[in-house]
Amino acid sequence: KNFSSISQILDKSGVGDVITVKGWIKSLRDQKEHVFFDVSDGSTAKKLQILLPKKSKPEDLSTGASVVVSGPLTLSPKGQLELTANSIEVCGKCVVSEGYPFAPRKQYAAEYIRQYLHFRPRTHKFGALLRLRNAATLAIYNHFNSEGFVNVHTPVLTSNDCEGAGEVFKVVPDNKKLIKSMAKESQAEDEVYFNQKSFLTVSGQLHLEAVAHGLSKVYTFGPTFRAENSKSRLHLSEFYMLEGEIAFVEKLDGLMTCIEQLIKQVTKKLVNDSIEDIEKCQEKKVSFDWLDKSFPVVTYKEAVTILSQNKDKFSENFDSKDGFGKEHEMFLVEYFGKVPTFVIDWPKDMKPFYMKDNGDGTVAALDLLGPNVGEVVGGSLRENNYEKLLEKIPNSNGHLDWYLDLRKFGSVPTGGFGLGFERYLQLILGISNIKDTIPFPRWPHNCSL
Ligand code: 4AD
Ligand code: MG
Repeated sequence: KNFSSISQILDKSGVGDVITVKGWIKSLRDQKEHVFFDVSDGSTAKKLQILLPKKSKPEDLSTGASVVVSGPLTLSPKGQLELTANSIEVCGKCVVSEGYPFAPRKQYAAEYIRQYLHFRPRTHKFGALLRLRNAATLAIYNHFNSEGFVNVHTPVLTSNDCEGAGEVFKVVPDNKKLIKSMAKESQAEDEVYFNQKSFLTVSGQLHLEAVAHGLSKVYTFGPTFRAENSKSRLHLSEFYMLEGEIAFVEKLDGLMTCIEQLIKQVTKKLVNDSIEDIEKCQEKKVSFDWLDKSFPVVTYKEAVTILSQNKDKFSENFDSKDGFGKEHEMFLVEYFGKVPTFVIDWPKDMKPFYMKDNGDGTVAALDLLGPNVGEVVGGSLRENNYEKLLEKIPNSNGHLDWYLDLRKFGSVPTGGFGLGFERYLQLILGISNIKDTIPFPRWPHNCSL
């Protein structure tokens, strides 16, 4: 009981119960006889107001201080449960003039709060965001579990650059002595530890494919790393990707159904169970009308036709050879009624080597474009023809014989996808900057906290 959270207390207790809450003070108001404040321990969006007789007010009580408060639950004049304190202890004071960056009763812009990542979890809005990350994670696990998928831990350290985009972070031990002691003759420093170069994963896909050839329906959900020189509102150097891989899939349709159901069911669960948190973190009102609509599907070629007909509406020049810019992705989503939209059958040369050849210059690839973010999911059928795959595997990626073996022994058609978890959160919360969806964002020049 000693460790009950405010959320648990509010669920289980009633008027007259004597309780103890531990948390941080929000919005302290001094009145004639009493001091009023809310205490938050981050467990719920609901507020618990505390009423404290002025004579019992400790000297260092202020907004932001951490406290332990005890007393009976009473009813406020408005009929809400509140706590009438008969004991209070300040654990840690919190003084703005000593450098605490958030003054009481002030609203701060996301950019300002982002400068203090270590204090950000205490803000109402970010607390709600973190609870939603947790709720969404659980909903994802439950959804896949009920669909018969097996969760797999794919490695973070890998020797492949799955996407072949040259966006890998290389991993080298920092210990020069160790390198020296391990090195074989004329070995390059960055190949000593594993006898080859190794990287932080850009995608668990290739390993997931190996596991799908054996467990049939699998998924992985973990950190993913990309060394892109982008500080855009949609890119992180470290993000969380949810990847699914399914064996015996021969058409994109099956894959798209799986993605659409995943996104709808997880979102419905959040809307049902966590609406208070959703409303707390939404930067703008987000419509969930799309939950009851089918996701439209267009081919890349059809999308190009639509965009070409609307060329005059773009500030970025539209040339189908360059693929789609953000503006074009957003336009397509608007065009299809703000419903997440699949774009399929992409030109071969725009996509990675592992995608299945349609035989007409395109590959069986899909991107799902969503409101507010554009691309949120990327996926494809996988090339399972040994000869074709051999032809397309980049020479530089010389460590993929094992991947080719999958097409030689007990091969099956497979397909899979990756969903950017932070982009999904942006989509459902209308959050403009991806850095406000992850506790400790990493982006170029920013990894100090
Ligand atoms: O489209 P991507 O590159 O696809 C893959 O990595 C496949 N191997 C996945 C698979 O089929 N198993 O990345 C998937 C998604 C993107 O649609 C996007 O939502 C997100 O990952 N993403 C990023 N999110 C944040 N920051 C970045 N730098 C991202 N790069 C990709
Ligand atoms: Mg992509």
